[in-house]
Amino acid sequence: MKKTPPKNICLLGSTGSIGRQVLEVAGRSRNFRIVSMSAHSNTKLFAEQMRKFKPEKACITDQASFEKYPRPLAGAAKILPPDKLSSLCTDKKTDLVIAGSSGSSALIPILEALSKGKTVALANKEPIVMAGDILTAAAKKHGGKIIPVDSEHSAIFQCMENSKVTPEKIYITASGGAILTASGKKITPGFILAHPIWKMGKKITVDSSTGMNKGLEVIEAHHLFSMDFSRIAVLLHPKALIHGMIEFADGSVNAYLSMPDMKIPISYALHYPQKQKMRNLMNFTKLDMTLEKYPAGKFICFGLALDAGKKGGLYPAALVGANETAVKAFLDERIPFARIAPIIRKTLSETPKMRYNIPNVLRVEKWAKGRAEKLIK
Ligand SMILES: NC(=O)c1ccc[n+]([C@@H]2O[C@H](COP(=O)([O-])OP(=O)(O)OC[C@H]3O[C@@H](n4cnc5c(N)ncnc54)[C@H](OP(=O)(O)O)[C@@H]3O)[C@@H](O)[C@H]2O)c1
Repeated sequence: MKKTPPKNICLLGSTGSIGRQVLEVAGRSRNFRIVSMSAHSNTKLFAEQMRKFKPEKACITDQASFEKYPRPLAGAAKILPPDKLSSLCTDKKTDLVIAGSSGSSALIPILEALSKGKTVALANKEPIVMAGDILTAAAKKHGGKIIPVDSEHSAIFQCMENSKVTPEKIYITASGGAILTASGKKITPGFILAHPIWKMGKKITVDSSTGMNKGLEVIEAHHLFSMDFSRIAVLLHPKALIHGMIEFADGSVNAYLSMPDMKIPISYALHYPQKQKMRNLMNFTKLDMTLEKYPAGKFICFGLALDAGKKGGLYPAALVGANETAVKAFLDERIPFARIAPIIRKTLSETPKMRYNIPNVLRVEKWAKGRAEKLIK
């Protein structure tokens, strides 16, 4: 029998929480070859990863880190500067782009990959939140495909793939993060970063506690599954075993369950449409399926995100920009937790009115970062 060649992977954000798990899962199999990868500033870890995975090309997206990077350590990989990131994604050798970097930096590379008909495994949610209409239209026009990696969207995607009938409604779950146990406690970065279920990057962990993450996920689901906001609901599920459900007209529901382990949706995106054996299996005799109404009032940014998503246009870009600045200021202990939402709200209220296109999406995100910074000072 003819052997299938390995899938060539371009990994964006290899040094982050998602990136490291992608390398762990892909590294277990001969079915994958990391042909290219990028990191921002953690060049020490990046050099170790390159020695192990031997990509042909690599990109350091932080200009200062790129300039400081000692070339001999790079081994065989060709190290490209920040403005060449897209070329890794569109390279003819690339079969699958895995977007695991944070923020909006991968927006153009993702768009260019989809415009070349590539498949993008999408963990990085900010680009689809900011420019979902443009990314999904490019994928449709050029035959590109988006495979969601976020656990809730991977769940809905898999439920949809297994159903011939369009659902009436989709449900995504929220585990709630540290904030559910915050009553009477001082909400410091240390307290928030001790997420009880998921071990993730710092920014998304703060976003989970403010409800911003769930709001961004609703906007992401709206774009990925072409669903009106009125047909997307969030349920609180502290055990994080049910990740998503789809409900049909007759009241029947398909649910997707798995252990809360990002390596499961990562493995699915890598092996799509196959499934690979994983060790982290459900224990059905200890199953706690408690689902409750999502207490939106406890999550200070959920409503802001939802409003921006429903308004559409450039509001989601302003939301992403203002949130990034406010969360960084909280992590740097420059503002208290309670100031995150007012800074985002004020910035959103001043969102410039311009046409919705990629240059303006990026312009407004940058403007919002600056406006939020002025409000912090
Ligand atoms: N972690 C999760 O479990 C999880 C789950 C679902 C979705 N997501 C989404 O996946 C994305 C990554 O999350 P994460 O938790 O993995 O974040 P993370 O641990 O903070 O890692 C971020 C990665 O992006 C790189 N990066 C940082 N700033 C950058 C910039 N300005 N330009 C380009 N690259 C930059 C970092 O490089 P350096 O480290 O080299 O600076 C690192 O490789 C986010 O959009 C998040 O919402 C994450």
